[in-house]
Amino acid sequence: MIPKVKGKEIDMGNVAIYPGSFDPITYGHIDIIERALQIFDKVIVAIADNEEKRPLFTVEERLEIVKEVFEDNPNVIVDSFKGLLVDYVAKTNVKVSLRGLRATSDFEYEFHMASMNRSLDTHLDTLFMMTSKDYFFVSSRTIKEVARLGGAVEGLVPDLVVRRLKEKFKLPVTKKKQIGWDD
Ligand code: PNS
Repeated sequence: MIPKVKGKEIDMGNVAIYPGSFDPITYGHIDIIERALQIFDKVIVAIADNEEKRPLFTVEERLEIVKEVFEDNPNVIVDSFKGLLVDYVAKTNVKVSLRGLRATSDFEYEFHMASMNRSLDTHLDTLFMMTSKDYFFVSSRTIKEVARLGGAVEGLVPDLVVRRLKEKFKLPVTKKKQIGWDD
């Protein structure tokens, strides 16, 4: 059966779904997606519409951002879902859910989530990829905190995310203060 995304039939060979909040997407996520594309033909980035988590960016904004990041890569499909991941996956007929692991501290939460998903749907397996050493300390949560307090997140998230964070937190577009002799 050909999987469908938003009712549209897409010819997908071996496809993985990468679910998450992506609030916002970081280079850690992007690294996982790019590495996954060495294994899978396509990756569906499935953005959870999870208002109860009080996201900084609305699901529409997160969709817009991730679509812009991957606008030149037709192998990355960006979609959103509400409710259970297994129900969304059932609609697409994909069998692999992809998650990144940064540190052992991630393991327990991820293990519970993968086990719960497998108990809900035995056809869905979770594949874990270790985050690259350059990004093991990067999380959407810390990015938001640093950005909110005016710290530099350049190099950890794409430039368009830096801009969006500055807009959200009403910060000036260029953060670094030019200190002259007169200061
Ligand atoms: O980026 P996150 O916030 O760690 O992603 C978590 C996410 C969205 C993958 C997870 O919360 C999820 O799958 N939510 C959908 C609801 C669901 O299926 N829950 C059952 C698994 S415990």
